[in-house]
Amino acid sequence: MKIAFFSTRKYDIEFFNRANSYCFELTFFEPKLTLETAKLAHGFEAVCVFVNDKLSKAVIEQLSQGGTKIIALRCAGFNNVDLPAASEAGMKIVRVPSYSPNAVAEHVVAMLLTLYRFTHKAYNRVREGNFSLVGMTGHEIFGKTVGLIGTGKIGAVTAGIFKGFGCDVIAHDPKPDSSLNLCSFVSMDELLERSDIISLHCPLNESTKHIICKDTISQMKRGVTIINTGRGGLINTKDVYEALKSGAVGFLGIDVYEEEENLFFEDLSTEIIMDDLFMRLTTFPNVLITGHQGFFTNRALTNIADTTLKNVADISSSGSSDNEVKMQPS
Ligand code: NAI
Repeated sequence: MKIAFFSTRKYDIEFFNRANSYCFELTFFEPKLTLETAKLAHGFEAVCVFVNDKLSKAVIEQLSQGGTKIIALRCAGFNNVDLPAASEAGMKIVRVPSYSPNAVAEHVVAMLLTLYRFTHKAYNRVREGNFSLVGMTGHEIFGKTVGLIGTGKIGAVTAGIFKGFGCDVIAHDPKPDSSLNLCSFVSMDELLERSDIISLHCPLNESTKHIICKDTISQMKRGVTIINTGRGGLINTKDVYEALKSGAVGFLGIDVYEEEENLFFEDLSTEIIMDDLFMRLTTFPNVLITGHQGFFTNRALTNIADTTLKNVADISSSGSSDNEVKMQPS
């Protein structure tokens, strides 16, 4: 089996080569999968793609002409794939539904502690011999009311961590898990009104797009902390930016950003970044931005590589996989 990898970085090569007990022939391409680069996959039975590879109808047709039969997503989401087009082309799609909810949940806490205890500032100050504590009065997580929007795999782990910090954990989920006793389920309105810290763990779809906006911020406590490791589009960034300036939002930690597609996962340190709103946010002392690294741990990368290659092996040997994305023909 020959697999063509797109959007690959050094760590993909390392983890996939290590997981390749199947002796598949792995070829790693650095560019994203596009109509132009799809030609690179000619002769490969499977392609392996990541979150920002766009599998449009045209790309899928191009892959199909080249003999590709399997699309292996090395991520959970599949909103970047034209499912009816893949179905028409007779392609199988597999994904990695869960690789480490703990990785993302722990990143929430990492961001929150950085914002509340200024560890990023302390690191620089100490290196410069500046041991002044002025401007670094911290905040404690203990005793805070934490509101989780979404209590699936990641939200549930996050609930347990905040419980351990001594927080009052409340949550909103349209499908509350009755077995989850680490938080109490409340209405969205109650969550917005009561929470000191709001953490987003729901998927991005039509009903959740801009769930954090001017209107919902007006329901929140003044000075609320918002952490988003979900998807950038859950937040109306312009509204949150205005709320940060007015003090309505006290702290913002984001690992995802609405326009991240043109920024994240690339080294742009020698380029002029054109996104003024993003750049302005990086100047706020109460804002922390990380580049979609919540998932990025040794354990998660190992799980992603193991599951992806097993998915391909299962399809290859039996024609089906537990992690197959079921397609609706158009
Ligand atoms: P999951 O599918 O296990 O849980 C999502 C939960 O959100 C479900 O319980 C669902 O009922 C709930 N939900 C749906 N609509 C909602 C709404 N309107 N309000 C409140 N809750 C709602 O997903 P999982 O694995 O917990 O992941 C959550 C999100 O985290 C993903 O959708 C993804 O966007 C993001 N993610 C981010 C990563 C990162 O590196 N920053 C890595 C992996 C996932």
